[in-house]
Amino acid sequence: MKTANIAVLVSGGGTNLQALIDAQNDGIIKSGKINLVISSNPSAFALERAKNAGIDTFVVSKKECATKEEFEEKIITALENAKTDIIVLAGFMCILSENFTKKYADRIINVHPSLIPSFCGEGFYGLRVHEAALSYGVKVTGATVHFVNEIPDGGKIILQKAVEIKDGDTAEILQKRVMEEAEWKILPAACEKVCSEIINK
Ligand code: GAR
Repeated sequence: MKTANIAVLVSGGGTNLQALIDAQNDGIIKSGKINLVISSNPSAFALERAKNAGIDTFVVSKKECATKEEFEEKIITALENAKTDIIVLAGFMCILSENFTKKYADRIINVHPSLIPSFCGEGFYGLRVHEAALSYGVKVTGATVHFVNEIPDGGKIILQKAVEIKDGDTAEILQKRVMEEAEWKILPAACEKVCSEIINK
C-alpha cells in the first residue's frame, strides 16, 4: 500500500515526535511514514529520538542563515529531496512565512498546547501558553491540532481535546498533563487522518 512521506519539524525535546514514532510502531499511523526530521536547533534532544528510530535528520539553524528566505529555502530543499507529502510541526518554534505556507497549503499540521482560539497566536508557545491559561484562571484547557496557514495558529482545526486544570497547578505540571492527556494522542490521530486523506485522494 502507498504511504505518505511525513517530515516532522522540531526545535526541542521532541516528546511529540516520540509520540508520532510510537504511533507508527503501534500501527496507529499506518497511512504515512516518517522519513525526515528537521530541527531548527542543533542541540535539540528530538534529533536523538529521530536517530534512535533510524530516521534521517537535517539541521537548519536560523542563526546561520542571513535571511528568513534562506532559512525556508533550506527547509524546502530538504523536503523536496525527501519527497515530503505532509509536514508535521511538533514543537517547531519558528513562524513560517506566507510564501512557505501557501506552497504547502493543506499539507502542514501543527500541535498547539491550548484550546484554540484561546491562548494562541504570535508569542504564545511552550510554557508561556500554560502560564497565560493559569493567570487567566480558566478551569479547562487542552490541545489543538490544526492546519497551518499564514495566520499564526489560525488554520482550520482538525482535532481538539480538553484537559482539566487542577488547584495548585504550575505551568510545568499543566504542560505535562496537557501533553500526556491530549497532545500525544491527538497529534498522531490527526496525522493519520490527513495521511489517509492524502493517499486516498
Ligand atoms: C509542546 O507542548 C507543543 O504543543 C508546543 O511546544 C511543546 C513542544 O514539546 N508547541 C507550541 O507551543 C507551538 N506554538 P516537545 O518538543 O516535547 O514536543
